Amino acid sequence: MTHPSSTLEIPAPRDVPRHVAIIMDGNGRWARQRHLPRFAGHKRGVEAVRAIVKACAARGVGFLTLFAFSSENWRRPPDEVALLMQLFLAALENEVQKLHRNGIRLKLIGERAPFDPRIRSLIAEGEALTAGNTGLTLTIAANYGGRWDILQAMSRLAAERPDMLAGGIGEQELAPYLSTSYAPEPDLFIRTGGERRASNFLLWQMAYTELYFTDTLWPDFDGAALEKAFASYRSRERRFGRTSEQVQASADPALAARRE
Ligand code: IPE
Ligand code: IPE
Ligand code: MG
Repeated sequence: MTHPSSTLEIPAPRDVPRHVAIIMDGNGRWARQRHLPRFAGHKRGVEAVRAIVKACAARGVGFLTLFAFSSENWRRPPDEVALLMQLFLAALENEVQKLHRNGIRLKLIGERAPFDPRIRSLIAEGEALTAGNTGLTLTIAANYGGRWDILQAMSRLAAERPDMLAGGIGEQELAPYLSTSYAPEPDLFIRTGGERRASNFLLWQMAYTELYFTDTLWPDFDGAALEKAFASYRSRERRFGRTSEQVQASADPALAARRE
């Protein structure tokens, strides 16, 4: 069963976002400010991940999706790409057991074929080990691109259900093929590091996601910074195309009844 679509159904409001998606940006600048190599920033970035996973689990967030490596990050200098791959491998080796002990379900989205076989098998093992966990679902987006996601979903749908193509494809048909089909759409998007762009993250899934940008660099993003993002989220009126009056009436059943 896939989750409802925000363009077909209006999601129930909630104070704590059910799904938080983060572009963890600013590791390189964090390191540069300290006259350290970029790699030092990426290492500190992994520590920030640990803290934010913990904070999200404690706050009752159901799904946390972290952009770790984009399909465009291969354009970086080869030695930086190699170091990022080493860090990815080390994180899989060292963190998966801890995630499992904490009841966290691990998922990876993105095209896996270009990764080293060792990384690919650790991903598969980590996902299998934690598949039955019922706590936070932690998704790592690695070699992920929003356009890739839409295209891979369309291609698989076309291959498996050629009958659908003639009748016209609806959202419900496409949804099970998107790489995040197990998760609701993100309620809150956070980008650290000051840039105000989507950088090919969850393009389809973020149709009605609340956007939050902060200048804080990812290695400095902690539980307190996350709380600020949540406070901003709580202050938003999520209209999903309706008027403010309609939103207020739907939050107050007595008012809604009077209007009908
Ligand atoms: C984000 O930090 C991490 C990855 C993209 C892997 P950056 O490495 O992009 O840091 P800045 O943007 O150069 O500061
Ligand atoms: C986006 O950050 C991708 C990740 C955080 C993994 P980038 O630093 O790669 O984004 P651009 O290049 O500034 O858009
Ligand atoms: Mg960056």
